[in-house]
Amino acid sequence: MTVVAHISDLHVCKLEFDEEVFMNAVSEINHLQPDMIILTGDLTNNGYYKEYQQAAKYLKMFEAPIFVVPGNHDARNLGYQTFEELIGERSWKLTMDGNLTVIGLDSSTPDENRGHIGNPQHMWLDHQLDECVINENFSIVVLHHHVISIPQTGRERNVLSDAGDILKTLTGHEVDLVLSGHKHVPNVWKINNTVVVNAGSLCSTKLRGKNKNSYMVYNISDEHIEIILNIVGGEKFLFGKYARNVL
Ligand SMILES: [Fe+2]
Ligand SMILES: [Fe+2]
Repeated sequence: MTVVAHISDLHVCKLEFDEEVFMNAVSEINHLQPDMIILTGDLTNNGYYKEYQQAAKYLKMFEAPIFVVPGNHDARNLGYQTFEELIGERSWKLTMDGNLTVIGLDSSTPDENRGHIGNPQHMWLDHQLDECVINENFSIVVLHHHVISIPQTGRERNVLSDAGDILKTLTGHEVDLVLSGHKHVPNVWKINNTVVVNAGSLCSTKLRGKNKNSYMVYNISDEHIEIILNIVGGEKFLFGKYARNVL
């Protein structure tokens, strides 16, 4: 079984980052010993160089390998350049043990909130997913912005501007899991054979209503994908369980 922890929207900054909640989350996730951690963007609140330095220090506290894509907040104030300097590539691909492929996309645009993938990245994604289908790999696509609107998040503003085309590519290749953040509200949709999950905010005080800080854990076996919603310092809920795609 492969265990993936999915965290999002840390928003490291002076005011809206809750360090105590973050430290609790670190010890819970380290205790869990996942095979990898995926962070779906907004690691900083303003993209400032100092926030990135701070965020890079915090991320080193996780014991499992961590893979990050940038969010709209990270792309502010030349943050898209700092991301590459202090965190890593903004679009990347990783294959684990020859059978699980994770593809990270940059859906941010400097100093804009909207999500957009754009043609060059879309073509690259399409090519990588063709390979996943040929190799029969379990595929996970990771991006900050949601591809489908999320309930209870007010007026829709930031769904990918090219959501329709991206969704067609994702479902056409029967991508197993699509992971996003941005809205700070946990959610799961299943469309055709693709499970689309949004994580809440791990440790930011920017929460809607009674939402709490949380993260997702995916237990991926040969038969099922099990999605567990973990409230930081609190309960764990089975959020969804789906049979694996058989190609
Ligand atoms: Fe956010
Ligand atoms: Fe965001």
